[in-house]
Amino acid sequence: MADVVVEKQTTNESQQEQQKTTEIKHSEVGHKSLLQSDALYQYILETSVYPREPEPMKELRDITAKHPWNLMTTSADEGQFLSMLLKLINAKNTMEIGVYTGYSLLATALALPEDGKILAMDINKENYELGLPVIQKAGVAHKIDFREGPALPVLDVMVEDPKNHGSFDFVFVDADKDNYWNYHKRLIDLVKIGGVIGYDNTLWNGSVVAPPDAPMRKYVRYYRDFVLEFNKSIAADPRVEICQLPVGDGVTLCRRIS
Ligand SMILES: C[S@@+](CC[C@H](N)C(=O)[O-])C[C@H]1O[C@@H](n2cnc3c(N)ncnc32)[C@H](O)[C@@H]1O
Repeated sequence: MADVVVEKQTTNESQQEQQKTTEIKHSEVGHKSLLQSDALYQYILETSVYPREPEPMKELRDITAKHPWNLMTTSADEGQFLSMLLKLINAKNTMEIGVYTGYSLLATALALPEDGKILAMDINKENYELGLPVIQKAGVAHKIDFREGPALPVLDVMVEDPKNHGSFDFVFVDADKDNYWNYHKRLIDLVKIGGVIGYDNTLWNGSVVAPPDAPMRKYVRYYRDFVLEFNKSIAADPRVEICQLPVGDGVTLCRRIS
């Protein structure tokens, strides 16, 4: 989830300027970036991303564009990044927390080998079902085990069984930001040593550097403190190597090292 502009208390003129920027940034679904120039972001999309985007992902992006909550979708460049990463680490057993209509899920399913697996969780099945026909048509639905409901209790059950420890090659976390550290506490046991956890939205539309009294949308402010706390905690966690990437709304990659 991203692309919510941190509103500034400025003059009318600069408010209008900001509104213009907001309009440009929101003009295209999945058009989300912290890059300062929209033109540069558009260049990246048009030169390197859209021409190589698999047809089913484009179709799913188009379907998602018509959905009222489309700002939640993973951007096309982030989808491309995930796809490359999964192939580089030869991921086979994966998990996704936060599916929405399934753009990052489809990117994952297409990147995994034929016998690859994704445990996918979301509290909302209806949105997943919007994208499901595209996933089925792409011939990758057999890799997905979708569970409707909150992810945390599922993780709690999984960590109880030692057989699940170290069993995941990759986990993508893109749901309730107030639970990121709770997810991490469980995922650190479930991902294998050398495996990767990707936490999405860790720059939270740039709000992580906004002054505490800056006006911002309610939910941005609410989750901001959790994101700030998570970023501090993950940077201090000796069990993982981390890499903060300014892709999409910010992705923190964690490679488990102990
Ligand atoms: C930002 S969207 C996910 C976007 C998705 N990765 C994509 O590529 O389109 C966040 C999703 O998390 C789901 N969600 C929120 N709280 C959750 C929870 N406790 N457990 C599982 N999913 C949750 C929401 O229903 C929403 O679909």
